Amino acid sequence: MSNYKEKVAEILGRSEAPPLCFVHSFGCQQNVSDGERILGILSEMGYGVTSDINSASLIIYNTCAVRENAENRVYGLVGELKHMKEQRPDLIIGLCGCMAQEEKTVQKVKSTYKQVDLIFGTHALSELPRLLYDVLTTRKFVCDTEEHSEPEKEINAVRSSSFKASVPIMYGCDNFCSYCIVPYVRGREKSRVPEAIIREVRELSEKGYKEIMLLGQNVNSYGKNLDRPINFAELLRRINEIKGDFKIRFMSPHPKDCTNELIDTIFECDKVCKHLHLPLQSGSDEILKKMNRRYTAEKYMEIVDHARSKDPGFSLTTDIIVGFPNETYDDFLKTLEIVKKVKYDNIYSFIYSKRTGTKAAEMTDMTSDEDKSKWMTELLQTQREISTEHYKRFLGRTLDVLFDGESRHEGMLSGKSDEFIIVEAPCSDKSIIGQRKKVKITKAYNWALCGEIV
Ligand code: SAH
Ligand code: SF4
Ligand code: F3S
Repeated sequence: MSNYKEKVAEILGRSEAPPLCFVHSFGCQQNVSDGERILGILSEMGYGVTSDINSASLIIYNTCAVRENAENRVYGLVGELKHMKEQRPDLIIGLCGCMAQEEKTVQKVKSTYKQVDLIFGTHALSELPRLLYDVLTTRKFVCDTEEHSEPEKEINAVRSSSFKASVPIMYGCDNFCSYCIVPYVRGREKSRVPEAIIREVRELSEKGYKEIMLLGQNVNSYGKNLDRPINFAELLRRINEIKGDFKIRFMSPHPKDCTNELIDTIFECDKVCKHLHLPLQSGSDEILKKMNRRYTAEKYMEIVDHARSKDPGFSLTTDIIVGFPNETYDDFLKTLEIVKKVKYDNIYSFIYSKRTGTKAAEMTDMTSDEDKSKWMTELLQTQREISTEHYKRFLGRTLDVLFDGESRHEGMLSGKSDEFIIVEAPCSDKSIIGQRKKVKITKAYNWALCGEIV
């Protein structure tokens, strides 16, 4: 592979100034993290990185296939590039990520989006130098969606932040929730060895990173298939031992693998943020079964109760799908009941989107789109009322907040508390961005907290 890196570097070196690349990632943090690794490979070969698409000689869209609207957006954007490609025939346009892994995308691009030069799937990241070399030397359409034997993607990332970093701990997913395309486009679950993860976290800590997000589609099934098996709680404890002034988050755990040991570990480890994103998807056992989620509402509530027995105000967030095939209003009400019982700080809710190739796509669906939208509105309204009330528990308390940017409100900086809640504070000193500060909370809204830096 490195051979191809050198060959591409040689070609790029012939131009007067270093050519620029524009990489945009859609979808989950795993995909964003892949995007950072793609930038890593490209800059090693001599590309400069730009956020101005018009100055780029290589444009890559790193796509998401989780819902139909995500796909439509990409097709819209690729359509817009047609004109640019006509004016600048040397421009290279690439598509990668989860959509690129689907045969139907490859076919559609080949027939209707001829401006695209390169497609590479989620397993072909490290093949990028070879693929790019082929495009540069043949100027023909190049496509690679093969499963390359690549146990570990030890690629240096070009990270977009100097204080928050993502570290993938596993790739793929074996769960096959019936609605979800991820297992088809990301392949089977594969854990990185703990030594590689610990090395990466240690390096990030030494560079001064303040927050490390451990990533996986099902982080808490981490380690099961390793030669020397280790569970996720154990990994958290080992990372917690690493020296440095950083906090640990992780995304996403699956309720079926959520043990009391994991919850206890969150409370025991000082570096682990006291927040859990625990995707519910539905509160109806019948729908959960059809979704192949392998837990019941009761089992889910046991996890919540265990966490809340340790801290009654413990922060939880979740994902919910509204309008799974043949969901009834009664099913939906069961979801709403859990939402009211748990009192999440935030929910990420999605209307069910049919994904060709999944089990759920074969189910006939009698639930109308109109009902689905109505229920979604009801869910969002309920959650708004809950957040408004529930955020008040922080009034008068002092929270640790990692400031990550300017707020839309004049003179305010914005950040996230360890509990994963947006916190804003008046501050004119922008050097605070990237630092963790104590903030005394004085106001609670339904979307954020406000306070004074102490
Ligand atoms: N692996 C993670 C998240 C995967 S995708 C997990 O299991 O939690 C992120 C979220 O998108 C899911 O939690 C689910 O709520 C939503 N999602 C996935 N497939 C979907 C579909 N076909 N339609 C609507 N929402 C979907
Ligand atoms: Fe999709 Fe389920 Fe895997 Fe999450 S756990 S990625 S929802 S199949
Ligand atoms: Fe989307 Fe792929 Fe992530 S489908 S949600 S980018 S794993």
